[in-house]
Amino acid sequence: MDGLAPCAFGICDGSGFVVDEATNTASDCRCRPLQLANARARSLEARIPRKYRDVAFDRWPVTAISPPVVDEVRRFCHRVGENLDEGRGMWLVGDSGTGKTTLAMLVSKAAIEAKRTTAIYSMPRLMAVLREAIDTEEGLLGLLDRLATVDLLHIDDLGAEHRTDWVLEQIYSIVNTRYEDQRSIVITTNNMPAELEEQIGRRTVSRLIEMCGDPLPLFGTDNRQEYQPDRDVA
Ligand SMILES: Nc1ncnc2c1ncn2[C@@H]1O[C@H](COP(=O)(O)OP(=O)(O)OP(=O)(O)O)[C@@H](O)[C@H]1O
Ligand SMILES: [Mg+2]
Ligand SMILES: [Zn+2]
Repeated sequence: MDGLAPCAFGICDGSGFVVDEATNTASDCRCRPLQLANARARSLEARIPRKYRDVAFDRWPVTAISPPVVDEVRRFCHRVGENLDEGRGMWLVGDSGTGKTTLAMLVSKAAIEAKRTTAIYSMPRLMAVLREAIDTEEGLLGLLDRLATVDLLHIDDLGAEHRTDWVLEQIYSIVNTRYEDQRSIVITTNNMPAELEEQIGRRTVSRLIEMCGDPLPLFGTDNRQEYQPDRDVA
């Protein structure tokens, strides 16, 4: 994107400042907090992966997924702004190929459409990005800080990463910071809470239960076509 994004309120030139010609002083525009939040979120992964870009409630495969679960997700999306403001999240738990990532992407899509800053990562990808950040100018803490302040953090396939003390520490730190600041998380995982505790630790899971409520269950046969490579989120 070239140049400045337009002012969300049509007041300033997109700089986030309003200049008073008479006194030649600048003051913050109403859009300034939004501009700052967007700038901080910019280099996080905020795009819906191509496979899920066209997901919609009235389209297949969502129309084929367990209706009570889809209804819960629809309700969450209808009030996405309120839910994010209150730090309420959601988690989808179950077997492979049952629509968990598909439904989670509907939530991220709703958040993005509501102009909320959103970061979307698969768990293995998130850990890779954190490891790489150690050697960057921003550093690991800088990246963790940005992950802590997006309105919605979507982590796909939690528990899919090989567990090491370092991984457990990072995931705890991310979840705990968001827990303390009451910021929302959306998670998909193949593991029920008890099993997940083994993988990512009891303290992390206990916070997720408080933030996300009861996991929405999606069990059954794998709907992923056998010839389709499992690509999910990069
Ligand atoms: N209930 C369903 N009926 C038909 N097709 C479905 C259903 N759920 C998912 N699919 C299809 O199966 C594939 C996998 O869906 P999705 O990525 O949402 O699964 P998942 O539950 O996240 O699986 P995993 O645990 O392996 O990540 C997609 O191609 C999707 O279109
Ligand atoms: Mg998935
Ligand atoms: Zn403005």
